[in-house]
Amino acid sequence: MKKTFFVSTPIYYPSGNLHIGHTYTTTLADVMARYKKENFYEVFFLTGSDEHGQKIEQKAKENNITPKEYVNEVVETFKDLWNKLDINYDRFIRTTDEDHIIAVQKIFSFLLKKDLIYLSEYKGKYCISCEEFLTFEQMDKDFVHNVCKNVATDFQEETYMLRVSKFQKYLQDLFKTNFLVPESRKNEMLNSFINTGLEDLSVTRVSFSWGIPVLENPKHIVYVWIDALSNYITALGFGSDNTELLEKFWSEDGEILQIVGKEITRFHSIYWPILLNSLNLKTPNKLLSHGWIISGGNKMSKSLGNVIDPIELLKSYSSDAVRFYIINNLPTDRDGEWTEELFIESFNTNLANNVGNLISRVSNMIIKYFNGKLNTKLLDKNHYLVRMGLETIEKYKKLMDNYEMNAAIKEVLKLAQECNKFIEETKPWNLEKEDKLEELNETLLILQKNILIVSYLLKPILTKSYENMILQMGVNPEKVNFDSLTNNKIDFETISKKLVLFERIKK
Ligand code: ME8
Ligand code: MG
Repeated sequence: MKKTFFVSTPIYYPSGNLHIGHTYTTTLADVMARYKKENFYEVFFLTGSDEHGQKIEQKAKENNITPKEYVNEVVETFKDLWNKLDINYDRFIRTTDEDHIIAVQKIFSFLLKKDLIYLSEYKGKYCISCEEFLTFEQMDKDFVHNVCKNVATDFQEETYMLRVSKFQKYLQDLFKTNFLVPESRKNEMLNSFINTGLEDLSVTRVSFSWGIPVLENPKHIVYVWIDALSNYITALGFGSDNTELLEKFWSEDGEILQIVGKEITRFHSIYWPILLNSLNLKTPNKLLSHGWIISGGNKMSKSLGNVIDPIELLKSYSSDAVRFYIINNLPTDRDGEWTEELFIESFNTNLANNVGNLISRVSNMIIKYFNGKLNTKLLDKNHYLVRMGLETIEKYKKLMDNYEMNAAIKEVLKLAQECNKFIEETKPWNLEKEDKLEELNETLLILQKNILIVSYLLKPILTKSYENMILQMGVNPEKVNFDSLTNNKIDFETISKKLVLFERIKK
C-alpha cells in the first residue's frame, strides 16, 4: 500500500483579502505536499475558508449585503491567489459547504450525548476579531488583546460548554510527545493554559445568527472555532456516508501535518486534540506552529492594516520568486520580515547570481567547448563535489522529512555555491586553452550533474522555473527523480538553447 500524507493550512477568515502572512502558511504546505509526492506518497492537501461567526456577520452588514453574498465574493479572491501562486490543493473547503454543516451538527450532537457538552451560562472577555475568549494574561489593563490590538468585549450569555477541564491529564501526556513544534510554543501552551488549570470552553452563541445552528436547540449557534476546526475531518468525509478519504488519510499509519500561525496554536494544540480524542480519532503527527511576518514592529494583519498584498506583488514578480522568499527567508521557528528590499536582494543573490549564473555558465561552456554534449563516461565518482552532491540529497531529505524546509534549502544553496567556487578554482576556460579536453569534460560533467541535483531539490519551490532549469542541462524533466539522480540513471541530450532563467530584478 502507498504511504499517505495529509497536510492542512488553517482555513482563513474571508473578513478581508489575504495577505503575505496567509501566503506564507499556504506555501509551506504546498512545498511539503509537492516534496512528499516526489517520494511517492499519496497526498491530500487541504485548505479553505472559515466563513461563519460574528466578525463576518459584521463585515457583511458594513457592506450592506448578506453574509453569504459577502463571503462568496471574498472566497473567489482566495482561490485566485492560490491559483496565481501555483498552490496545488486537493480540496478547498468552505464552512458553508452543505456536507460540512451537516457533519458539524453531527459532531455537536455526539458530544452532547456523551455529556462532553452541557448547557450553562458564561461570563468573560471576548475578542471578536480573533473569535476568542481571552484570559487576563492575553490583555493589557484596558482589555486590549495582545495579538490583534482590539479591545475585548464583555460576554455573558446562556451557552453550551465543552468539558475541557476533564482533559488536563490527557493534554499533559500529549505534550510529553513532540507533536507540537517548536519547543518554545510547547512550553508556552503548558505554562499559560494547560498546567495552570484548564477551563471549560463556551461552544455556542445566542447573540447572532450567522453560523451553524445546534439541532437540539437551534437558537444556539456553534462557536465558530468548533465549526472551523472540524473542517480538517469533515473535508475527508467525517459525518457523511462516504468516509473513504478519512480512512485513508486520517489513519494510524498515515502521516498528518498541520501548519498554523502561532496565534492559533492554542486552538490547534488544546481544543482540537480534545475534539479528536472525543471522536476516537488520532492526533496529528505534527503541528507546525510558525512565527509571524512582522511589519512596522507588529504582526502583519488585516485588523491592523499593515499588510502586503500578494496579488499586487505577483503583478511585478513571479510566483517562484515569492515562494522562494518564503522558504528561504522565513524560518518557521521565529518571526520574520518582509520588505521589498529584502525580497529583491534575496532573489538576486540566490537565484539570479548563485543558481542562475551557475546554470548559464555551465551550459554555455558545454555548448561552446563540446557542442552541447559531454562524454558521460568520464565521471570521477570520487570527486569531492560528486560526493557533496549525493550528501546534499541525503541532508535535504532528512531535513524535509522533519519539515525543516528552511534548513533544507540552505543545503541546496550551499551546493550551488560550492559549484561556483569550483568553477573559479578550476578555470575551465584555461583547460580549453591548454587543450586538456578530458579534464575539461570531467569538470563540466561534475557541474552538470550537480546542477540537476540543485534544480531537482528546488522543484517543490520553483514550480514554474523547474522545467527550464532541467532542460537547460539537456535532460528530460520527467526522468529526474531521487532514484535516477543517486544511481546515475540520467540520459543527457545535446544542449542547444540558452534559456533565460532568473533575470536579475532591478530596483
Ligand atoms: O485564524 N504572519 O484565520 P485568519 C504569519 N479562521 N502568518 C500569518 C500572519 C502573519 N503576520 N497573518 C496571518 C483564522 N497568518 C481562523 C483559522 S483554522 C481551523 C481557523 C496566517 O484569517 C497564519 O497561518 O486570521 C495564521 O494562523 C492564519 O493566517 C490566520 O488566518
Ligand atoms: Mg487572525
